[in-house]
Amino acid sequence: MNPLDYLKENEQKALDQLKDFLRIPSVSAQSKHKKDMETCAKWVVDTMNEIGIKTETRDTGGHPLVYGHYHQSDDLPTVLIYGHYDVQPVDPLDLWESSPFEPIEKDGYLLARGASDDKGQLFTHIKGVEACLKTEGKLPVNVKFLIEGEEEAGDTHIDEFIENNKELLAADIVLISDGSQYDMDMPAINIGLRGISLMEIKVTGPDKDLHSGSFGGSIANPIHVLSKMIGQLHDEDGHIQIDGFYDKVYQAPDKEREQYARLPFNESGYIASTGAPKLWGEKGFTPQEQTWIRPTVEINGITGGYQGEGSKTIIPSWASAKITMRLVPDMDPDEICDLAEAYLKKICPDTVTLEVNKYSGAYPVQVPIDSPWLKAASNAIQTGFGKEPVFCKEGGSIPVVATFKLALGLDTLLVGFGQNTDQIHSPNERFLIKDFHRGCRTSVALFDELSKVK
Ligand code: BES
Ligand code: MN
Ligand code: MN
Repeated sequence: MNPLDYLKENEQKALDQLKDFLRIPSVSAQSKHKKDMETCAKWVVDTMNEIGIKTETRDTGGHPLVYGHYHQSDDLPTVLIYGHYDVQPVDPLDLWESSPFEPIEKDGYLLARGASDDKGQLFTHIKGVEACLKTEGKLPVNVKFLIEGEEEAGDTHIDEFIENNKELLAADIVLISDGSQYDMDMPAINIGLRGISLMEIKVTGPDKDLHSGSFGGSIANPIHVLSKMIGQLHDEDGHIQIDGFYDKVYQAPDKEREQYARLPFNESGYIASTGAPKLWGEKGFTPQEQTWIRPTVEINGITGGYQGEGSKTIIPSWASAKITMRLVPDMDPDEICDLAEAYLKKICPDTVTLEVNKYSGAYPVQVPIDSPWLKAASNAIQTGFGKEPVFCKEGGSIPVVATFKLALGLDTLLVGFGQNTDQIHSPNERFLIKDFHRGCRTSVALFDELSKVK
């Protein structure tokens, strides 16, 4: 039997096993799930060892990192496969059709938190290795797996681990499936990811909540002040007003923009998939450009004042907001945080005090498009999906990709098996069962194609 036949014969078994993986509530951001993170890492370790990939957890001070490898021969290229076993929080729980950690099959989808981001996609490569080893007893390449439990949490230890383990992780190319195809039957290879800067700001007025009748009118309301500051982040055309924000922004050549313009784009379908009434964005750019090659500022959450039942007439003491900025080449995450801080300080009135907390972010990524690895990946997708991939960029961030380049000198193949409509980070996250199986096939084909490159 060949590996592809093996996958075909074991489709249901693979899916059932993925469901076990999805049942573990590995929410990295929430401390109440600390034990589940350990359980999940152990599940991955055990599953990989059973297949014959030598795997163990590595302590980093945070959630366990999983490292596994299968060395076939010194003469073959080594593929470093990255994925993450942690998932996003599930709230708001009441919007889920089914329990987020009890996967169900519906309309060809597997529904569960992590189904697409990233357990389902990561698992395709574990199954790919299994199919090769079970049928041929060997792999066409050497593989190393680095599987993180902190990708969704922001506060990560993986960069330090990579810096300290360059030899262990030495490879020829990185492979990641943690993204989307361009459309339903349009598989893609991502040639760029946006970077990210993260910060939190808090404005404080009175040192306690005040009666809004007794004091209202004479003391500034921190929620109003914060809202106005947020309102000054963009102008009427959607341009960001932070001084210096665009100084290092990569200007995509016309040729690149024309290439994106040639991709089919169903605007009403796009809008419908979001549920928003209409589009919004920086003037002069298409939605693809707005999300792929332009930077943004977003408020991710805003807190302050009384939010319980009924009314409470107060001037709240403080208000805060979580802010992220998406970056494109050649923006630097720390520099951008500093610029944002300076701008916020500039526009903040002296009726409140401003506190800014900046967090480590991620650099944007550009994948060289003329490499033989990309051609090999393209061939593999042709085998797995029966279709040639398109090349496009992606608005999301995978922080470790820049680290692979900076610390190990490695480029990454971003071969996403999901769909933009998988509702990752949202209620009812899902993964097309068909995409899972096509992903497994592509994985087998990738090992084969990549083996021919070196
Ligand atoms: N897999 C996503 C990134 C992604 C999303 C790639 C959509 C392609 C398409 C990843 O798990 C993610 O969510 N990353 C975070 C990083 C952040 C927490 C630093 C992101 O982009 O918000
Ligand atoms: Mn992911
Ligand atoms: Mn994610």
